[in-house]
Amino acid sequence: MAAVRAAQTPGRITLSPMTSADIPAIVDLEAASFPEDPWPLEAFVHELSNEFSQPMVAWDMDGNLIGYMINWFIGPEVHIANIAVDPECRGMGYGREMMKQAIRMSREAGAEEMVLEVRIGNVPAINLYVSLGFQKVYIRKFYYRNGEDAIVMALAL
Ligand SMILES: CC(C)(COP(=O)(O)OP(=O)(O)OC[C@H]1O[C@@H](n2cnc3c(N)ncnc32)[C@H](O)[C@@H]1OP(=O)(O)O)[C@@H](O)C(=O)NCCC(=O)NCCS
Repeated sequence: MAAVRAAQTPGRITLSPMTSADIPAIVDLEAASFPEDPWPLEAFVHELSNEFSQPMVAWDMDGNLIGYMINWFIGPEVHIANIAVDPECRGMGYGREMMKQAIRMSREAGAEEMVLEVRIGNVPAINLYVSLGFQKVYIRKFYYRNGEDAIVMALAL
């Protein structure tokens, strides 16, 4: 599978491969984004050496870390394992740009489908995915630790 390369969207964000230096800031963003069930630091460290994983960091045009995304390339499928935008930077189009770049990279890598799970109550994320063409495939009952259901969504590439 092709390695992640830095990708530029004029006026918006740069996505670059995650490094160990990025992880402390990402752990903070993770805690702010998923207060009930955040990934621990060790999980992000593991992703750096996971051969199926492309962990990426999003930077704004001033070089500020504004988000991250972890995609697993498994055969013809790309599983979006994690995505978050800094709470102070939400609603500014960054999440959409990250997703659009990830969709493009997945197509270029020859993937056929993108798949993800999202909490049934996560309206911002569901709206984002639907607006990009993702479709609801099925519900995973009681998927999350607090008993919340997950919607499995997929996008044919
Ligand atoms: C989901 C998330 C990544 C979206 O990032 P973002 O940068 O705020 O999203 P954008 O500004 O690019 O918005 C893109 C679309 O998402 C939807 N959206 C974003 N914020 C929304 C909100 N508060 N309410 C409803 N829809 C919203 C809209 O469809 C929006 O498109 P529009 O601006 O044309 O209406 C961000 O809310 C986040 O980090 N949430 C916490 C972590 C998380 O839930 N990750 C997803 C796990 S599956």
